[in-house]
Amino acid sequence: MERLQHEEFTSIVFFTGAGMSAESGVPTYRGKGGIWKDYDYEEYACQDAFERDPDKVLEFHRIRRRSVLLCQPHEGHRVIASIPEAGIVTQNIDGMHQRAGSEEVIELHGSLWRLRCPECGFRKEDFGEVYEKKCSECGGRLRPDIIWFGDMLDPLVMQNASTLIKNCDLFISIGTSGTVWPAAGYPDLAKRSGAYCIEINPEPSGATAYDRVIEGSAGEVLPKLFH
Ligand code: APR
Repeated sequence: MERLQHEEFTSIVFFTGAGMSAESGVPTYRGKGGIWKDYDYEEYACQDAFERDPDKVLEFHRIRRRSVLLCQPHEGHRVIASIPEAGIVTQNIDGMHQRAGSEEVIELHGSLWRLRCPECGFRKEDFGEVYEKKCSECGGRLRPDIIWFGDMLDPLVMQNASTLIKNCDLFISIGTSGTVWPAAGYPDLAKRSGAYCIEINPEPSGATAYDRVIEGSAGEVLPKLFH
């Protein structure tokens, strides 16, 4: 595969989904070995479930934190981190881009490593395995700062992501099935904004926005594309 002359572009955005971390050992949500095949997200990843049985929801996320703590970023994450001027908009909550050295990461769906208090808005980073339950500010019940099904995305996060995407001239989507909105609309936004759009996925999503589709895995393709 020939090297991408990314220097010819003025603003690159990497748009990543769960497939970006698959080679690190972090399971995707759909497809082979997908999380939602074993867990019903209505039981484990939505506000109603949390109100019904907070301990069950926290235990699900504790297991996810423990497993992600055992995973390492792969070469693909490091390639992205080696292009500091590039923007990163991720749907992932695993923090792998940051652990590979990327500093500015827009996390559309929150983070396994952050807690928030719905009562007072308090937020804190928390890199442990077990979740702290009580808000130190107001005594309310803390919850993972993750966008669960049915949650609204943070408007400021969305605004930052769309501004970045509207102004890029190279948009590289990696490892997303393109099934969850509003993130699924970002490839079209990039295309409409005039960016050259590339998809990297062993099972391409079929989205029409892409100018180039590379059927391959993140860990194999990225080092070849940016060597
Ligand atoms: N490299 C690149 N892509 C891969 C790899 C790999 N090694 N392995 C799998 N993929 C691709 C799959 O082909 C699939 O298209 O990654 C994609 C994973 O799709 P999903 O599991 O649906 O993940 P994602 O698109 O990120 O899901 C979006 O759904 O459940 C919600 O909030 C959750 O952020 C998540 C959102």
